[in-house]
Amino acid sequence: MKKLKLLVLASGGGTNLQAIIDSIEQGKLNAEIKVVVSNNSNAFALERARQHNIKAIHLSHKMFTTPEEFDAKLLSILKENEVNMIILAGYMKMLSPTVVRVYKNRIINIHPALLPSFGGPGMYGIHVHEAVINSGAKTTGVTVHLVDEVYDHGAIVLQEAIPVLDSDTPETLQQRVLEIEHKLYSQAIQLFAEDRIEISENRSFIKKNPK
Ligand code: GRF
Repeated sequence: MKKLKLLVLASGGGTNLQAIIDSIEQGKLNAEIKVVVSNNSNAFALERARQHNIKAIHLSHKMFTTPEEFDAKLLSILKENEVNMIILAGYMKMLSPTVVRVYKNRIINIHPALLPSFGGPGMYGIHVHEAVINSGAKTTGVTVHLVDEVYDHGAIVLQEAIPVLDSDTPETLQQRVLEIEHKLYSQAIQLFAEDRIEISENRSFIKKNPK
């Protein structure tokens, strides 16, 4: 198995990016972040990358006349950096079907709820946790899933559940969910690093650890 060379896409603070950087530096995750790309020039995620000597690129659709030109640029960055896996970490844009096709089964996203519940358009950030609390659900959690052409839809790779407490506000729930995200995302990427994820008919399976 070739070593994982990652491109991380992030739009915001980048705490998931930071958790991945930390896991790599602590030797828990066998991968290298080649480049971090953000559609938002002020994203702290770009600053986190720079602080760890990782290439940081601002790339937005607004810089191009057509979506195809944006895709061509992103694909050229992926190629130049020999990226073999794309990690979405709080990226607020959808990748085009073109990019999804080129990196089929090699793009993952993290979602702060148990998909297929509380996903889809509009379900991002604090809105997810508001919806969970308003629904009366007693359990929520984190989902790492493959990215396909449909929002929050691809095969589920890993999930972890946590209870919703009667005392929870959307903010306290968001915080507890985020702590799980930071652990689960690196675990999921490590499964790819060990070549242990098998995908069949929109389901993903974890192969036993080859000893
Ligand atoms: C996380 O809750 C993630 O699940 C969602 O966006 C948020 C990003 O947070 N997709 P951060 O930028 O990694 O801190």
